[in-house]
Amino acid sequence: MVKLTSASPRQTGEIAAFIGRRVNRGDILCLQGDLGTGKTAFVQGLAKGMGIEDYVTSPTFTILNEYHGPIPLYHFDVYRLSHADELFDIGYEEYFYGDGVVVVEWPERIAELLPEERLWIRINYGSRQNTRVFHIEGWGKRYKELEEAIRKCWC
Ligand SMILES: Nc1ncnc2c1ncn2[C@@H]1O[C@H](COP(=O)(O)OP(=O)(O)OP(=O)(O)O)[C@@H](O)[C@H]1O
Ligand SMILES: [Mg+2]
Repeated sequence: MVKLTSASPRQTGEIAAFIGRRVNRGDILCLQGDLGTGKTAFVQGLAKGMGIEDYVTSPTFTILNEYHGPIPLYHFDVYRLSHADELFDIGYEEYFYGDGVVVVEWPERIAELLPEERLWIRINYGSRQNTRVFHIEGWGKRYKELEEAIRKCWC
């Protein structure tokens, strides 16, 4: 597990863009963190790193936002799902096992539907204003490599 501290939204964006430059089709990134910790801010940086120019918003009333770039980005925010099963209605498998990168806010709410192999990113509030603490852990070979790349560059 890698532990990083971000001192500003800008730095969160830089960490996320670093990951965005290294993702592959089919990758799944889980973003766990309380309200306002910066999950959506992270997705904005991720999209930038992936070469996506669309503006990334908080998918407040939509469960899924799609962004188009060299690789599509599927941004799920499952906060408002009352049951994980509701994901079947939007055909989530096509996205999770498809040709794009998937990023999920509130992944713990759909734990049973998540593939075992994924990058897990937990964001906590830091002790000083505007700081955030990231714990990043890769599950499976591909994601361990990503974790290592992050460790080499940021630790
Ligand atoms: N170091 C930091 N990293 C990220 N965001 C930060 C940081 N410091 C302050 N912020 C602020 O925290 C807020 C994060 O909002 P954001 O919508 O990204 O959170 P979220 O985790 O997606 O929330 P929600 O659970 O409501 O979806 C923004 O207003 C951002 O400017
Ligand atoms: Mg959000």
